[in-house]
Amino acid sequence: MALLNDWQRSKLDPSDDSLFYDYPRFVTHVDSGFIGQLTDLYRKYLRPQTRILDLMSSWVSHLPPEITFAHVEGHGMNREELAANPRLDHFFIQNLNQNPILPLPDQSFDAVLNAVSVQYLQQPELVFAEVYRVLKPQGIFIVSFSNRMFFQKAIQAWRDASEGERVKWVQRYFESVPGFEVVQVIQRVAPLSWVGFLGGDPFYAVIGRRCT
Ligand SMILES: C[S@@+](CC[C@H](N)C(=O)[O-])C[C@H]1O[C@@H](n2cnc3c(N)ncnc32)[C@H](O)[C@@H]1O
Repeated sequence: MALLNDWQRSKLDPSDDSLFYDYPRFVTHVDSGFIGQLTDLYRKYLRPQTRILDLMSSWVSHLPPEITFAHVEGHGMNREELAANPRLDHFFIQNLNQNPILPLPDQSFDAVLNAVSVQYLQQPELVFAEVYRVLKPQGIFIVSFSNRMFFQKAIQAWRDASEGERVKWVQRYFESVPGFEVVQVIQRVAPLSWVGFLGGDPFYAVIGRRCT
């Protein structure tokens, strides 16, 4: 049975995503508390002088500034944003909802990152399978997200889900690819988040490893 049905993959704005990302947004999509937690998570999992793919990136990659990598490949939808990202050695533009096949060799990355973007994927199982393909054995895929989104561009399943259910969706995306194992799930909601701005952005991450 398919992971998602057509309705669950649909978006309120069904127009080509390229139109929506046509102009650059030099903003941060989550608050500094979220970004600090994400950079710390990268500190835990990423090793110096390794090859990193930042999938669905922009002008920031949230990588620890003190770590030097062998290569950071960027991917996204807006050329100006990616060209302004100081951590990228190279980047490519590709609409993953039109073509999920990554133009990258098998087993060529030690880690793949996807920050605050997984909700926009209409064929997540195909993209996760591609991430698996380009990861080296034991390579890791770090998927992070909060509760913010471009509502009209997030898939129906994500919009309908509670925050806890969204974590489950990402776990299912990993489980749909044989050989991926989820090694850590993080769900951190600030104690004061129910009063809105006082609590800060909730931090969620699912980390998978290529085992075979
Ligand atoms: C909220 S931004 C997050 C950018 C960056 N990862 C960050 O942490 O700031 C969402 C990103 O998802 C990517 N994106 C959205 N729809 C996409 C699609 N159909 N194909 C490929 N990338 C897409 C774009 O690169 C966009 O910058």
